Amino acid sequence: MNIILIAAECVPWSKTGGLGDVAGSLPKALARRGHRVMVVVPRYGNYQEAQDIGVRKMYKVAGQDVEVTYFQAYIDGVDFVFIDSHMFRHMENNIYGGNRVDILRRMVLFCKAAVEVPWHVPCGGVIYGDGNLVFIANDWHTALLPVYLKAYYRDNGLMSYTRCVLVIHNIAHQGRGPMDDFSYVDLPEHYLDHFRLYDPVGGEHFNIFAAGLKCADRVITVSHGYAWELKTSEGGWGLHNIINEIDWKFCGIVNGIDTREWNPLFDVHLASEGYTNYSLDTLKTGKPQCKEALQKELGLPVRPDVPLLGFIGRLDGQKGVDLIVDAVPWLMGQDIQLVMLGTGRQDLEQMLQQLEGQHPDRIRGWVGFSVKMAHRITAAADILLMPSRFEPCGLNQLYAMMYGTIPVVHAVGGLRDTVKQFDPFNNTGLGWTFDSAEANKLINALGHCLKTYREYKETWEGIQKRGMSQDLSWDNAATNYEEVLVAAKYQW
Ligand code: GLC
Repeated sequence: MNIILIAAECVPWSKTGGLGDVAGSLPKALARRGHRVMVVVPRYGNYQEAQDIGVRKMYKVAGQDVEVTYFQAYIDGVDFVFIDSHMFRHMENNIYGGNRVDILRRMVLFCKAAVEVPWHVPCGGVIYGDGNLVFIANDWHTALLPVYLKAYYRDNGLMSYTRCVLVIHNIAHQGRGPMDDFSYVDLPEHYLDHFRLYDPVGGEHFNIFAAGLKCADRVITVSHGYAWELKTSEGGWGLHNIINEIDWKFCGIVNGIDTREWNPLFDVHLASEGYTNYSLDTLKTGKPQCKEALQKELGLPVRPDVPLLGFIGRLDGQKGVDLIVDAVPWLMGQDIQLVMLGTGRQDLEQMLQQLEGQHPDRIRGWVGFSVKMAHRITAAADILLMPSRFEPCGLNQLYAMMYGTIPVVHAVGGLRDTVKQFDPFNNTGLGWTFDSAEANKLINALGHCLKTYREYKETWEGIQKRGMSQDLSWDNAATNYEEVLVAAKYQW
């Protein structure tokens, strides 16, 4: 099959969250299964590996002509195509920056240019054209692609065999605006109703995700738990009625991870400064060495016996970092160390720094985004906290388990799918879970977890080893994607 994945971010070039990881790793897994795969992303910076292929096109954005150039790089069996325009350049550190209309205009341009990639950019020397092609669009930023595919092409007898699957990574962002925003998307008048949504919070408004969900041939979300939540009024953020209507073309597939990038044995960030690579066989010596190295690097007391807790994530309401903050008084009554890494809301950033100031021997609040630090904390910590209020899939708990770091999570969305609660009677499970986003629930789960860490070393090791032995690679998930792509193509 010919597959084109389109996303607003893609590692290693651009990333604000898990979407970037998925865009960088799922395509490679699909390519390994024998498909011809392209990834299309905006060119936010000067990417050394990508060449200008000399194709220039003009697209209309809100009545103005904007020039676009296509860049290309062939890496690990995948053609990465970067759309260059003055609208994307220099947005590297601010992908979703600007006001509502700025970002809308960027995404209009991106989707218009991306939908024509199969005509303008050769993949493996071949132009896809209309042949056996399926697009995979991701989140609201690219939800206009299935709409454009239908309105500009399929309705006019073009690209009749091309299909589009839309993946929901996070329904909280939808591309909402006043109904007047329709003038920016440049579509025939009879498409207006696809974008019209009414909900008690926003009233009648313009909603890009709504139109994408209706026009896509199939819709996937990133876990089974989240697929269920999206159908409820609490979890669907106003789109639950549409999700229920399209249930026939909707399903959940749990994300995989890049097991080369996130593997304690090959992790380049563990290769120096006192850290060390390790595997299941060397867990007992390697992981403590990483813990010591992190304690030294961050200036915490070097103590092998103290449980080291980690948190990595965006500092916002979704990730529940405030629950950890609320649990700090209790935590400080325990003998623990806590390391938190993230950026986001200013009040939460300040809170992290404040906590570090108050407890310099026990807490580090690292404000910033550092890939290296994320890897090092994942390796060095004994326990990873993920008290997310909602979590469509969540990747950090998967990374943690690969490194023998035990997750304590709020059982929602993908966290519920991937972290099975430890059961002391049968000695099964992968971590600790709690069932509502409250600090005292987190404390309760963490209490059990810490007791096991301190008093039942063998049990602890058993949980670590079960986590590390899982196959969390994309290989399984890619097979499931393949089934959906085939269904999009042939099952009508
Ligand atoms: C979003 C979700 C996260 C998910 C990621 C990749 O960032 O919030 O839960 O893991 O997308 O699908």
